[in-house]
Amino acid sequence: MPAMPIRVLLTGSAGFIGQNVLRRFAGDARYSVWALDLRNTYTLPKHITDAANVTLCVGDAGTTTLIEDHLCDWVIHLAGSAGVRESDADPLAYIDNNVRVTTHLFEQARLHGVTRVVYASSSSAYGDGAPLPLVESDPNRPACSIYGMTKQMCETIAQYYYTRHGVKSVGLRFFTVYGPHGRPTMAVRRFAEAIRADTPIVIYGDGTQTRDFTCVSDIVSAILASLTGSSRLVKCDVFNVGAGDSCSVNELVELIKELLGRPDYDRITHQPRHAADVGATLACGKHIAKQLGFTPKTKLRSGVAQFLRWLDGDPAMGHL
Ligand code: NAD
Ligand code: UGA
Repeated sequence: MPAMPIRVLLTGSAGFIGQNVLRRFAGDARYSVWALDLRNTYTLPKHITDAANVTLCVGDAGTTTLIEDHLCDWVIHLAGSAGVRESDADPLAYIDNNVRVTTHLFEQARLHGVTRVVYASSSSAYGDGAPLPLVESDPNRPACSIYGMTKQMCETIAQYYYTRHGVKSVGLRFFTVYGPHGRPTMAVRRFAEAIRADTPIVIYGDGTQTRDFTCVSDIVSAILASLTGSSRLVKCDVFNVGAGDSCSVNELVELIKELLGRPDYDRITHQPRHAADVGATLACGKHIAKQLGFTPKTKLRSGVAQFLRWLDGDPAMGHL
């Protein structure tokens, strides 16, 4: 008799990272996936969203009963408000969508025996100015944004639910993710679309700020690594997920210009650096390599080249 599929609740499934996770699960009979999002704005091909092992649900992760209804084994919690700079404008929405929603899911996980919760944390949880590379054991600094603060709070919620109730969880501190289905306001997509359309780019500050830009395919692999294999040893922990390379915003613009064959593009404007923006991020990957056996595979140049093919509509890159 075939083994029962593992029942998975995936929240934020219509979002950037969520759609990439859904693509990895769709059609794999080892899993039965309830994909939950407030929106039904998938740009994935129909054979992915219509896969027999996937049920698309529209609803609020902050009130959902899907965990109880389907006795889910795993929760992959990606739903939330994701913009760093945008969080200044509506702090209460970020508290509600990130903190309250995460608490509801942990409470449901506790009540209904979920084996493991994997949730999205962020490099923003480090605040600014910690020594590089950023190491999980560094003490938290004050967050630079409401968004970063909510991610620190998500980690505290996870710690509480383990210490008090034994709910096992993995918090993944994703570092500036790019790739197919990328959010339109993020640097890689914004710059690529502007250069292709020959419209202006806005750089916040002088562009010397650096990021550990990380390809979404590696993010998906890290999520799966946290649910399987040696990760069974983990009880409640937090891990960096970064490519392990540093690139300035100016260097990113040059790379995209080169890959698009537009070395002449010069429509670059500047606005003041945003106070919520940290100066530099760079992930130390030792903890996740040791505990979960995950190492990133995609270098920035090849990852951005793949992303540009997706933007061009290359079907091999998962475009409609
Ligand atoms: P995204 O905005 O593309 O996706 C988030 C999705 O969550 C959206 O589709 C949205 O509709 C959904 N959502 C929001 N609130 C919801 C709710 N209450 N109930 C159900 N669905 C809800 O963002 P993303 O870039 O895919 O990020 C996914 C997660 O990873 C977020 O928690 C984000 O904070 C975190 N993260 C992202 C990055 C990155 O660089 N993209 C880096 C670090 C952490
Ligand atoms: C990203 C995600 O948006 C967050 O959800 C996530 O939590 C965070 O990474 C993280 O690593 O934790 P951010 O690093 O700001 O946030 O990513 P981008 O929006 O791609 O910006 C990268 C850099 O480019 C920033 O310094 C930003 O100021 C700059 N930028 C961005 C510009 O100069 N111009 C733009 O139009 C967009």
